[in-house]
Amino acid sequence: MTKTLFDMSFEDARVRHAALSREIEKHDELYHQKDNPKISDAAYDELRRELGQIENQFPELKTDQSPTQKVGAAPARGFKKVKHSVPMLSLSNVFSEEEYSDFRVRIYRFLNKEESEEIEFLAEPKIDGLSCSLRYEQRVLVMAATRGDGYEGEDITENVRTIQDVPQKLPKEAPDTLEVRGEIYMRRDDFIKLNEEQEKQGKQIFANPRNAAAGSVRQLNSEITKTRPLHFFGYALGEVSAEISKKQSGVREKLEGWGFQVPQPSYVGSDQDGPYLYYKEIEELRAELPYEIDGIVYKVNDLELQERLGFVSRAPRWATAHKFPAEKAVTVINDIDIQVGRTGVLTPVARLEPISVGGVVVSNATLHNEDEIKRKDVRIGDHVAIQRAGDVIPQVVEVIQEKRKKGTKEYVFPQTCPVCGSLAIREEGEVAWRCTGGLICEAQAVERLKHFVSRNAFDIEGMGAKVIEAFWQDKLIKAPADIFTLEERDKTSLTPIKAREGWGDQSARNLFAAINERREIELNRFIYALGIRQVGEANAKKLALTYGSFETFQEAMLAAQNKEGEAFQDLLDIEDIGPSVADDLIGFFKEPHNQDVLKKLKEQITILNYEMPENDGSPVSGKIVVFTGSLEQFSRAEEKVRAEGLGAKVSGSVSKKTDYVVAGSDAGSKLKKAKELGVEVLSEQEWIDLIAR
Ligand code: IVH
Repeated sequence: MTKTLFDMSFEDARVRHAALSREIEKHDELYHQKDNPKISDAAYDELRRELGQIENQFPELKTDQSPTQKVGAAPARGFKKVKHSVPMLSLSNVFSEEEYSDFRVRIYRFLNKEESEEIEFLAEPKIDGLSCSLRYEQRVLVMAATRGDGYEGEDITENVRTIQDVPQKLPKEAPDTLEVRGEIYMRRDDFIKLNEEQEKQGKQIFANPRNAAAGSVRQLNSEITKTRPLHFFGYALGEVSAEISKKQSGVREKLEGWGFQVPQPSYVGSDQDGPYLYYKEIEELRAELPYEIDGIVYKVNDLELQERLGFVSRAPRWATAHKFPAEKAVTVINDIDIQVGRTGVLTPVARLEPISVGGVVVSNATLHNEDEIKRKDVRIGDHVAIQRAGDVIPQVVEVIQEKRKKGTKEYVFPQTCPVCGSLAIREEGEVAWRCTGGLICEAQAVERLKHFVSRNAFDIEGMGAKVIEAFWQDKLIKAPADIFTLEERDKTSLTPIKAREGWGDQSARNLFAAINERREIELNRFIYALGIRQVGEANAKKLALTYGSFETFQEAMLAAQNKEGEAFQDLLDIEDIGPSVADDLIGFFKEPHNQDVLKKLKEQITILNYEMPENDGSPVSGKIVVFTGSLEQFSRAEEKVRAEGLGAKVSGSVSKKTDYVVAGSDAGSKLKKAKELGVEVLSEQEWIDLIAR
């Protein structure tokens, strides 16, 4: 017999809560991902109601893992994927007046402009919703897609058609092809009403308007989306077949004329302080706005300058988001755990008494490293202020000293790895303690696998951190190659994946399909996936560009063990690859275990050669160029970006292999070396003439 709530002990409640959560998650999956519910809505509502009641009685159980706290529908596998014709990138952030000012300086520098020259900026609110790209062909809405990973999103056209703010047709003067990018959001009052309604029906409560909007858009059934009060603001363009305006502000006006809503109010001006003063004004106004904003976006107003400024990795140089200060709350530290990362770094994490910060329940916060713990003197049992800004991991800001109880002890950072027991060391000049267990440390191995399948690496859908952990535990996956043999082994397994808890026929099939889709991978992604220390996305790309194929890359890294040889010098000639990164690369390839991992992996997958951008006709394609001295017309940074765009390789040092040295006015040692080696030297003007050909 089930106990009633009144005679439940905490332990009973915990057990029942866990069982209910599992049950609800199973039905969520059946409903949202498989479109195949196995119980009636009423029976489902009953499960949720009981869970809610237990949490009211025992609030400790209401953690961010509880189904009552999770974002709407889980990743919507039911949606078709669509490639964005122009990538949908993200924005860098600034958090203070000083950082805003640095952002401006970077722009002036890149464009080689004097402070006295005017650059116009536009500023507008940053809407806290979910980004969406609307594609119009012949002035008719043909596609709406989520951002996804920026390059590929999900087709949500049917759902977006139910949003009133989104015009289905555009007037005659709109171009033949037009992509409008913007944000789908829910107003605060509508969000409150929706949650009241959901609660009455015992359905899931959304944590904030953004989650409510996301959950509504990701419904597989657009009839449900239709009942949700969603809105849309347009703020940028993707692909367009004709020029719309020369200015960002002009684009806003055109969009408004065509029936779109745009974020209000906005600012345009070239005053140094103008955009920041506007930020302060909006900060005051924030609470009165009917929808949530999480900051201000500053954009260079001139579209030609935007084009010149371009992008740094995933964010434009011509725009940034000035975020509002983080939300804070006070809670107690129950414990301090040490997490072991992919490269062995030990990160202290505070386990907190769960608390709601700006609508999200937080139970963990990072303590960064030993020095930070010491500086703030954080102890187990302390009351601490924590803060959460956007999607960043919550942080412990300070200890509330007045609330400290007697008898608490200073925290002593462990000298050994909590997982493999190996010695931990902290090298001079570093803030991090690192586990020296390397390949024997299970924590590192699991983290490496998580990195391997992550979004910017192999991007295997359905194989998140939890799945990797579970499969590791059960020895299904121990090394990267095991991922690709999983399906074959599963066929003869006595405990196949589909029989595991939380899995079924369909989800197992989906997983195998997602794995098989990734048997071909671009070289830069592959290099990044290896998780070599200091080799992030940017360095992986440079290595891919330099070596072209994995075989060439691997051979070069083995040859580079000889520090006197050419291979080592070639490696150092790559921009931003210094001796320390080189050591990590060489060390990785030298290690016999890694060689074995790579060999097995290559039997399973195909690594595509790096494709040079299409610029065969460019006179500098494939050439190695070094810029030195100060340039007059464009900044060195801009020239470098342009040269790379034309297929040239920009190097930091001059060697026999260098094709051109472009020398500015006060060029020194590099120019001298070029002359000694007989490398062709160009003036800035000669270089500009050369690439204009
Ligand atoms: S402009 C190249 N303007 O914020 C990207 N973005 O955190 C140009 N966002 O990905 C984006 N309000 O989804 C722009 N007024 C606004 C915005 C805005 C919200 C979103 C956008 C972006 C994200 C970055």
